[in-house]
Amino acid sequence: MGEASHPLGAGTLEVRAVRGPEVAVARALAGAAFADRDPRPSPVPTGPVPAPGPGEPGALHWVAVEDGAVVASAAARPRGQWFGGRRLPVVTLGGVAVEVTHRGRGVGRELVGGLFAAARDAGAVACVLFPSTHRFYASLGCGAGGRRPVFALSTEELRQRLPRPRGDAVLRFAEPRDAAAVAALSAGRAARGQGFVDHDGLPGSPPEDPAGPGAFVVETAGVVTGWCLLHRKPATRAGAAYDLEVADLVAADADSELALWRGLVADTPQALRADAVVPAGSLLERRLERLQAPVENATWMLRLLDVDAALTARGWPAGVTAEVVLDVTDPLRPGDDGPRRLHVAGGRATVEPAPGAAADVAVGPGVLASLFTGHLDPVQAAHDGLLDARVDAAAVLRTLFAGPPAVLARAF
Ligand SMILES: CC(C)(COP(=O)(O)OP(=O)(O)OC[C@H]1O[C@@H](n2cnc3c(N)ncnc32)[C@H](O)[C@@H]1OP(=O)(O)O)[C@@H](O)C(=O)NCCC(=O)NCCS
Repeated sequence: MGEASHPLGAGTLEVRAVRGPEVAVARALAGAAFADRDPRPSPVPTGPVPAPGPGEPGALHWVAVEDGAVVASAAARPRGQWFGGRRLPVVTLGGVAVEVTHRGRGVGRELVGGLFAAARDAGAVACVLFPSTHRFYASLGCGAGGRRPVFALSTEELRQRLPRPRGDAVLRFAEPRDAAAVAALSAGRAARGQGFVDHDGLPGSPPEDPAGPGAFVVETAGVVTGWCLLHRKPATRAGAAYDLEVADLVAADADSELALWRGLVADTPQALRADAVVPAGSLLERRLERLQAPVENATWMLRLLDVDAALTARGWPAGVTAEVVLDVTDPLRPGDDGPRRLHVAGGRATVEPAPGAAADVAVGPGVLASLFTGHLDPVQAAHDGLLDARVDAAAVLRTLFAGPPAVLARAF
């Protein structure tokens, strides 16, 4: 997308990619908006960003400039996100901040709308984000995609309840040479699950960086079969030296997962509490019967930037052949509206314009995004009036979008 200028109020608002000298101002602005922890780094990336793959979008850092001053900033980074066993080129959005005195005048909407269009033009089929203001993003066509359920686990309970793994899994600190194996484990989990975002590299870990996070792997018969990333944080209860935050944990099989959990509590005897994402149906959820309410259950949201490309790129249930005519009204694709025929067979889909065809389902982009991730059940959504669908078409969509609960394992 080219640079846009929009009159807004008295001044002239320009929404565009950041220019060199503006970067520091934009970072300070985002840092101020998100300064809930001290010290909290700016969510606008400061380090090198991963190079995009062929045909994938690069990093985008956009600003809104009014009367020559930067008044808002937002950043998007290229990633893969997995649906139905396939990896889609998406961007993750973060650091969206409008200068306090400029809020509530449509600046945020212009900025994020411009960034969405630019990301779409660069080849991203969707944008994923953790909203702090759900309504703001809903008004921009984003839909709830899933949750990130974090539970406060008792390390005592982990010690008592988890059985000894079979086999001879050995825990050790992760090393740079493990990067490929860890990436493969993460890709395997992403292909089994729904909504996972690409693994983003191994951090430095002790003993290489004594203050850094703990990154561990388990090896079984010389092969890396699991990994986890731990942070220590101030204790919430008397008697503990610190709490643990399990930032990520992936295992190839149940024994490796048990070895990781047992290893990490054994390594941290001073911790009473470990905060970790525990998805519904996971091994830990089955083992720990007394899980209390999650301490965090952030909703993440998805914006389908290119509906046809996203429907074509994702995986679909094997053994299902179906056809549905969708009418998706989306302000991001003006002139491109109208019925589309979604044809699914052999785990793949094609989407074609179907001018004149009667739509089986009429839906807006936010609700479609929630169906896409499996977060919203189509039959229930039709019942609730969230989409206009023939009863049999809603049932077909239920079969097509079925999958495990969509989870973002790691915050970004
Ligand atoms: C959230 C934020 C980016 C919105 O920017 P903004 O320029 O004030 O928003 P806009 O004026 O463009 O509003 C666009 C829409 O979002 C809604 N909206 C904006 N801020 C909202 C809020 N705090 N609560 C509920 N709705 C909000 C508006 O009502 C408007 O919708 P409507 O006009 O159809 O009702 C801005 O308030 C901000 O910087 N907040 C602090 C940082 C933050 O929370 N960022 C989001 C990170 S995920």
